[in-house]
Amino acid sequence: MTVSLSGRGVGHSFGDLTVLDGLDFEARPGEVLGLVGPSGCGKSTLLELIGGLRQPDRGRIEIDGKEGEDARLERCAWMPQKDCLLPWYTALDNAGLALRNLGRSKGEARAEAGLLFDRFGLAGFEQSRPDQLSGGMRQRVAFLRTLVSRKDVLLLDEPFASLDAITRAELQEWLLPVLDEKDHTVVLVTHDVEEALYLSDAVLALTSRPGRVAASMKAPSTTGFPREQVVTDPGFTERREELLALLRQSSPSIAGGAR
Ligand SMILES: Nc1ncnc2c1ncn2[C@@H]1O[C@H](COP(=O)(O)OP(=O)(O)O)[C@@H](O)[C@H]1O
Ligand SMILES: [Mg+2]
Repeated sequence: MTVSLSGRGVGHSFGDLTVLDGLDFEARPGEVLGLVGPSGCGKSTLLELIGGLRQPDRGRIEIDGKEGEDARLERCAWMPQKDCLLPWYTALDNAGLALRNLGRSKGEARAEAGLLFDRFGLAGFEQSRPDQLSGGMRQRVAFLRTLVSRKDVLLLDEPFASLDAITRAELQEWLLPVLDEKDHTVVLVTHDVEEALYLSDAVLALTSRPGRVAASMKAPSTTGFPREQVVTDPGFTERREELLALLRQSSPSIAGGAR
C-alpha cells in the first residue's frame, strides 16, 4: 500500500538551537520527494521527525492522514548515510536484519532477502562480508535491508554520498526504476541537486539553518532515458541551475560547495 506524507509548519529546536522552522511539504502516494540543502540545515533531523524517532516541537507531520509518532515509526524504513552494515555478518544476513527485527527466523529472513539479490546485482555475494564488497555493493545491501522491511515510506539519508562519481551515477541509474515502481513514498536527502532532480518527482530546497523552504520545484520526467541523456538535456540543466541559484541566494555560504 502506498501512502501520502505531509508536513505543515514543522519546526524543531535542540535547546536554543532552532534547526527547522515552519516547513510545509507534501508527497503523494508513490512519489519521491527530494530534499536538498546545505550541511547542518536540518535534513537528517527532518527525516528523524518524519520517521517518528523524534516528535516535532511545532507543526504536524501526517502519514496517510495520521499524525501519531507510533504510526510514523511503524510505517517508515530509514536508510542512514553510513551503511551501518555489521562487519561480522554476511551480506545476506545484513540484508535480512530488518526482517529479524520484525520477528522472522534466521531462515525466513535469509530466504526473503535472498529473493532480491539477483535484482540488486548481488547474486553470488550472499556469503560475502561487508569488507569483501565494493562501496556500491555495500550501499545496495543497505538499501535492500531498508526495502525488505516492506514499510510504506522510505527515508533515504544521502544514500550515495560516500561513493565515487562513477559508482554514484551507476547507482542512480539503477535506483530510478526501483523507485518508479511506486511501491513506496520516498524522501530522498542529498546535497547533490542533480541527483535530487534525476531521482525525485519534486524537490524541496532548504535554506541554511534554521532550515526553511527556499524553493519547491517539480522535477522533469526522467523515466526510460539513459541518465547521460537526461542530465544533459537543456530542460534538465536549466532547472538544475535555477535550483542552484535559489540555494545560493538563500544560503550564501554554499555558493561554491553545492553541485
Ligand atoms: N541530537 C542533537 N542534539 C543537538 N543538536 C543536534 C542534534 N542533532 C542534530 N543537531 C544539530 O542540528 C543541526 C542540524 O543537523 P542535521 O539535521 O544533522 O543537519 P543536516 O542533515 O542537514 O546536515 C546541526 O547544527 C546539528 O549539530
Ligand atoms: Mg545529515
